[in-house]
Amino acid sequence: MKFSYFLPTKLSFGFGTVEGVGAEAEGLGGTRALVVTDKVMVKTGIVGRVGSHLGGVAFDVFDEVEAEPRIEVAQAVADKVRSAPYDLVIGVGGGSSMDMAKVASGLATNRGPARSYVGSNLFPKRPLPSIMVPTTAGTGAELTVTSMVTVDGHKQWINSPLLLPSVAVVDPELTMSMPPSVTAATGMDALCHNTEAYLSNLASPITDSAAIEGIRLIVKNLEKAYDLGTDRAARESMSLGALMGGIALQAKMVYGHSIGYTIATRFKLPHGVSCGLPLPYIISNYAVACGPKMPKLAEAFGVSPAGDPSELGKAVGEKARSIAAHVKIPTTLKELGVAEGDLSSLAEECVTMYPRPSSPLVFDARSMGLLYRRMWEGSLEA
Ligand SMILES: [Fe+2]
Repeated sequence: MKFSYFLPTKLSFGFGTVEGVGAEAEGLGGTRALVVTDKVMVKTGIVGRVGSHLGGVAFDVFDEVEAEPRIEVAQAVADKVRSAPYDLVIGVGGGSSMDMAKVASGLATNRGPARSYVGSNLFPKRPLPSIMVPTTAGTGAELTVTSMVTVDGHKQWINSPLLLPSVAVVDPELTMSMPPSVTAATGMDALCHNTEAYLSNLASPITDSAAIEGIRLIVKNLEKAYDLGTDRAARESMSLGALMGGIALQAKMVYGHSIGYTIATRFKLPHGVSCGLPLPYIISNYAVACGPKMPKLAEAFGVSPAGDPSELGKAVGEKARSIAAHVKIPTTLKELGVAEGDLSSLAEECVTMYPRPSSPLVFDARSMGLLYRRMWEGSLEA
C-alpha cells in the first residue's frame, strides 16, 4: 500500500469557535482583512458577528458572491483584493463564498486576469493567508485545493494546493439559521463527498476512515437537521460529517459530481441538488467494481451488510434515495424535467468535459448514456 496525504489547514471545530477568529487572524499576522461573502450573510448578521470577533484586525467586505459563481465574480473579487494592501482573506458563507475567498487569496499576490488561472497549479507566488468560516454543513470547501467557477456556462475549476486555507473555523452555531432547502442541498453534497471519495481509486485508509464516519453522521442526522433546524446535536453532527467529507475529498470524486456538473448549469440547480440526484445510481453502479468495500459502506448507511455486492449496491442506493426524497431532492432526471432526447448529449458532455481518472468504473459515451437513462427512469439496476 502507498499513499500520501497533505492537509496544512488548521482546524478549529465546535460551538462557539467563531469567537476565536480574531486570535486566528492575528496569529496569521493579519492587520487588514478582506471578508469575502454574499449579501445573505450580511443581511442575516453573520458577517457582523464574525467581524465583531476580529478585534484589532481592520476589515472590508466584498459581498458580491453569487451562487455557482461565474469567472466574472472571480475577476471582481481579484480587483477588490488588489485595490488595497490586504494581508488576509476571510471567507464567510457556503462553498461559493469560500471558493471566491480562496481565489482572492491567490489573485492578491499573482498578476493577470482570473480567467488565466482556470486549470491546475497556475499560481507562481504563494497566496495571502486565509481563514474560512463555513455557514453551511456541506461543501468542505474550507479544506480543498479547488475553487469552482462557471466559465461560459460550464463548470470549471481553479486548482492549486497553494489555495488550501490556513485556518478553518467550523462553528455549527453558524449553520443553525440555514433554511431546510439549504440544509438539504448542502447536506446531500457532504454525503456525496464522503461516498464518492470512498468509491474512488485514490481512496486511502485516511480518507476511508473520514468518509465512513462522515457517512454515518450524515445518514443519522441529515433528516433530523432538515426537519428541525434548531436541533443542536444534529447540526453539530452535520458540521462534523461535512468536515469529514472535506478530509475525504483528497481521494477525489467519481462520476457523481461529473453528472452533477452537466445538469447544474442547464437547470440552474444548487450544487448539492445536482450531485445528490445521481448518488443512489452511482452507488448501485459502482457496487461490483468496489465489491470488497461494500459491506462497510452498507453499515455506514445503516443497511444490513449481508449479501453480494450487487444486492448491497441496490440496498444502499435505495437508502440514499430515501434520504434524498425525505429532504425533497429530486431523485430522477425525469422529475427534474430532463427531456428523454437530451440524455445522450448530457452523457457525451459528462465523459468529454468531466472525465474521472480516479473512477474504478471506466465509462464511454454509450455506457454513460445507459447510466443517464437509469437516472431518468429511476432504475437502480447496474
Ligand atoms: Fe460537492
